[in-house]
Amino acid sequence: MALWGGRFQSDSSDMFRQVNDSLPFDQIMAAQDIFGSIVWSRAIAKAGVLSSDEQQKIEQVLSELLDSAKRNELDFASSGEEDIHSFVEAALIDKLGDIGRKLHTGRSRNDQVATDFRLWCREHIDQLRLDVLSTIQSLLNSATRHQHAILPGYTHLQRAQPVRFPHWCLAYVEMLKRDLSRLDDLRKRLNQCPLGCGALAGTTYPVDREDIAAQLGFDAPCQNSLDAVSDRDFVLELMFVASTSMMHLSRMAEDLIFYNSGEAGFIRMGDAVTSGSSLMPQKKNPDAMELVRGKCGRVFGHLQALLVTMKGLPLAYNKDMQEDKEGAFDSVNQWHICLRISSEVLDSLELNTDVMTKAAQAGYANATELADYLVDKGIPFRTAHDISGQVVLAALDKGVAIESLPLDVLKQFSDKIDHDVYAILELDYLVDKRNILGGTGQKPVQQALAREKAHLKALMAAAEKDRG
Ligand code: ARG
Repeated sequence: MALWGGRFQSDSSDMFRQVNDSLPFDQIMAAQDIFGSIVWSRAIAKAGVLSSDEQQKIEQVLSELLDSAKRNELDFASSGEEDIHSFVEAALIDKLGDIGRKLHTGRSRNDQVATDFRLWCREHIDQLRLDVLSTIQSLLNSATRHQHAILPGYTHLQRAQPVRFPHWCLAYVEMLKRDLSRLDDLRKRLNQCPLGCGALAGTTYPVDREDIAAQLGFDAPCQNSLDAVSDRDFVLELMFVASTSMMHLSRMAEDLIFYNSGEAGFIRMGDAVTSGSSLMPQKKNPDAMELVRGKCGRVFGHLQALLVTMKGLPLAYNKDMQEDKEGAFDSVNQWHICLRISSEVLDSLELNTDVMTKAAQAGYANATELADYLVDKGIPFRTAHDISGQVVLAALDKGVAIESLPLDVLKQFSDKIDHDVYAILELDYLVDKRNILGGTGQKPVQQALAREKAHLKALMAAAEKDRG
């Protein structure tokens, strides 16, 4: 008989159990559930429900159970329990009999599951922070390895203006930094404790909710029992942060897939993170990046699914909310996997800098520089723009770059053009002229790279300290 036994005269049907039981997936919250139960036993002991001897016995058995959980030694498969909460309680009762039957006094699975899930999310946020930091590290390493490489920058997927490769890396660093700050933000909001709110209305036992919250590492107890047991904003937020970050990773994946294509040929990915074709021996496919792009579908889907599940639910707890877990567990896992594999791909990158440079040079990106050069020589901008346009046309006609036209040809367009024109037409000159804060010139890019390395070092040290 299930733990809500007394009122029922017959057992649940097999199909009911299939639809209702959550142990097959909520077992991954075993450690959190046991930890919450230990703290709860202390709280009700202080409130006079358990003697100190009873509490110690309960804590002893739960601690052993926690060790087994951490070693993955709990036998869920043959337990027949409905969910992780009944599993832990049953294991306790199995060892302690009537003493174990006292643990659930004043508590409900509603405040219990809300507490367990917050604890689970919090632990995973801490792990995911490290994953994001590692991906940032790989971007910064890549940027450092290829500091001088230049590639075409695109708008509308048309070559627009050349950019330095580290500038491209640093763009994704900015995105991941925002993901990190969203995680930090969410962690603060999440870190409130529902335990002690009972089924929905609060508990009648005089437990110290401030102390419960502190023991579980929360900043404060949740303030309203109805909200505490039925709030799943923290899950939605975590899935939103995962979705946004996956969107960032998929844009990076798309860039890399394109750079790796036969058409662009800018980069090569390592053998360890690519696959071949069973039919075409020459192929080396960017599967890892395609999967990062592809996995966005399910991660975005999980967010949407829970929003729809929560929409219009009356207060307070409804069983619909049990549907909050599988999607969230999967989102967290997929995001973790995608961050790790993105790091590996970045670490494996080799650049075909010659091809990149050639592509960056093509497309007459230096036509504006020529116009500016003529302005410097006293020609009004509109006229200079016109002259430069005619030069582009002539170069196009010959199928060469502007800088490949000899001086006497250039002079036919304006006698102000001289030898010094070739220096300003060079790729490096063009790129490094953009030396404004946030620009792609060598100077601001080097400054940004140094700044981000220092920032990462500080974040890593802080994370290390928190763990220690
Ligand atoms: N397995 C349930 C869930 O995940 C636990 C809460 C059950 N509460 C209840 N009133 N039946 O939501």
